[in-house]
Amino acid sequence: MKDAFKAVKVTDKVYWVGAIDWAVRDFHGYLTSRGTTYNAYLVLSEKVTLMDTVKSGFADEMFARIASVIDPRRIDYIVSNHSEPDHAGSLAGVIKAIEPEQVFASKMGVKALGENFGIENVQAVADGQELSLGDRKLTAVETRMCHWPDSMVSYLHEDKLLFSQDAFGMHLAGYERFADEMDEPLLASEAGKYYANILLPLSASVTKAVAKLTELGIPLEIIAPDHGPIWRRDTGRIVSDYARWARQERTDKAVVVYDTMWSSTERMARAIGEGLAAGGTRTRLMSMHGCHRSDVATEMLDAGALLVGAPTINNQIFPTVADVMTYLKGLRPLGVIGAAFGSYGWGGGAGRGLRSMLEEMHVEPIDGALDVVYAPTDEQLLRCYEFGQRVSAELKKRWG
Ligand code: FEO
Repeated sequence: MKDAFKAVKVTDKVYWVGAIDWAVRDFHGYLTSRGTTYNAYLVLSEKVTLMDTVKSGFADEMFARIASVIDPRRIDYIVSNHSEPDHAGSLAGVIKAIEPEQVFASKMGVKALGENFGIENVQAVADGQELSLGDRKLTAVETRMCHWPDSMVSYLHEDKLLFSQDAFGMHLAGYERFADEMDEPLLASEAGKYYANILLPLSASVTKAVAKLTELGIPLEIIAPDHGPIWRRDTGRIVSDYARWARQERTDKAVVVYDTMWSSTERMARAIGEGLAAGGTRTRLMSMHGCHRSDVATEMLDAGALLVGAPTINNQIFPTVADVMTYLKGLRPLGVIGAAFGSYGWGGGAGRGLRSMLEEMHVEPIDGALDVVYAPTDEQLLRCYEFGQRVSAELKKRWG
């Protein structure tokens, strides 16, 4: 492994020494279609400092990259910005291998590292505390619940560089280390997917964190997250994207998510979709036969309407639709209008269940969606089409 992996220079004194996970496709329920990276950074200050570590199983790669610039045993400090296993999973082994002088984390990080990984003697840094690295200075900024209670970011003053842990990241494997080396539409799509699937339910905390960073008035020339590429041009853009996504601004776009047993619910979904499109609404029809729940969540990042269709099976919501609805409920999209539709053979159940879930999600109901018995008639399909038109008009009224 040694010599085959190199560090990547970020500034004169900062190197990326993380790992690339080309193969991962599931990240707590999120389809990581393009893999990810676990970013760790080496600061070659007087006190040589390692910022975060990598997921268990990737430490050899990280050590090899570190060794390409410095003997890993010369590391004095480790700063753990976040204790989720994708960043702290290898930390205990790393500490054992290099025996650093000190490990730092937020107060909640100290607790989490002790309780979850058995890592003791971690020194807590308070919100706003400065940590001298000799010729350089780090400031810790707590960003609780972005992504976990322990989360903090660290600002390296001399390099105007923010180690932002999960924030401003994305799940995207690649040999390009900087966002400006990648395609813009790809970055926009993966950054949005990451926000929609990870940070959306924590939007209030994101708003606070962005305000906190803005109030500090620190120049952000470089943002170095724990996943995906490093931002070194126009960093304000990803910060303002976060501020906007956290506001959960809706648009006149509709997501029709459904599954089907014998094509009845699918025919209804397609008729609704035609009605929406005829009204000029950007419409995404997403069959759970072929779509992943995390792609539905991504489409919901800016959608104004969620229309959900399922057949009834054994008095319950069809399982694939129950799955995506449970996932969406946890992500807490706000300010959405919506309705449930579907078909059943005798007793029903899916419609009731879905309406109840939509209510729990505070989705504002729109009347007129149908539950049909067995298969929709032409007249019922026309009513589905008209329902789509009604939703379209409602979306236009609100966000058109
Ligand atoms: Fe990338 Fe919340 O861990």
